[in-house]
Amino acid sequence: MSFEIKQPKSKAEFKRYYRLRWEILRAPWNQPEDSEVDNLEQQCVHVMAIDTASEDKSNVIGVARLQFNSDTEAQIRYMAVAPEHERKGIGRTMIQALEKVAQNACCKTIVLDAREPALGFYQKQGYEVTEKSYLLFDEIQHYRMKKVLRVIR
Ligand SMILES: CC(C)(COP(=O)(O)OP(=O)(O)OC[C@H]1O[C@@H](n2cnc3c(N)ncnc32)[C@H](O)[C@@H]1OP(=O)(O)O)[C@@H](O)C(=O)NCCC(=O)NCCS
Repeated sequence: MSFEIKQPKSKAEFKRYYRLRWEILRAPWNQPEDSEVDNLEQQCVHVMAIDTASEDKSNVIGVARLQFNSDTEAQIRYMAVAPEHERKGIGRTMIQALEKVAQNACCKTIVLDAREPALGFYQKQGYEVTEKSYLLFDEIQHYRMKKVLRVIR
């Protein structure tokens, strides 16, 4: 399989981007459409993975967002890969792309709140658990994780 990582730009791209976010991170818990969007979207950097092997060149198979919490700290949120494309390196490639954005913006650390089943994935990317954080929809335990970024000169 082959995929490319890009930033959504057009209205149509953002529509597909948010759709996948909702399908994976909200719909299974019966959350309504639009529940996947918050009021920081316009200030964030968004990346998505496109399945370049499929005939439909706009097939979004991965999504992730970077927000800036301060001048030195960024946060990854809403990371999701289509179930049929998991374990092909898409999540890792999206994280690397967002880490590069954070480094270029002179951030020193990235934090995130990982769902329990995804802990091992983030650990493989160098993130460490700092504390147990919140319970989403009364059942998804999250853990705060942190990674100190390599300084680029
Ligand atoms: C978690 C998620 C983003 C991982 O994406 P992915 O594209 O499948 O991950 P990758 O293929 O890039 O995996 C990179 C490495 O992490 C490992 N890995 C992936 N998911 C893992 C998991 N759940 N637990 C442990 N290791 C995992 C892979 O085996 C791979 O290891 P390798 O480097 O030794 O080959 C994806 O499974 C997903 O969207 N899950 C459902 C939604 C979710 O939980 N999102 C996170 C919200 S905090």
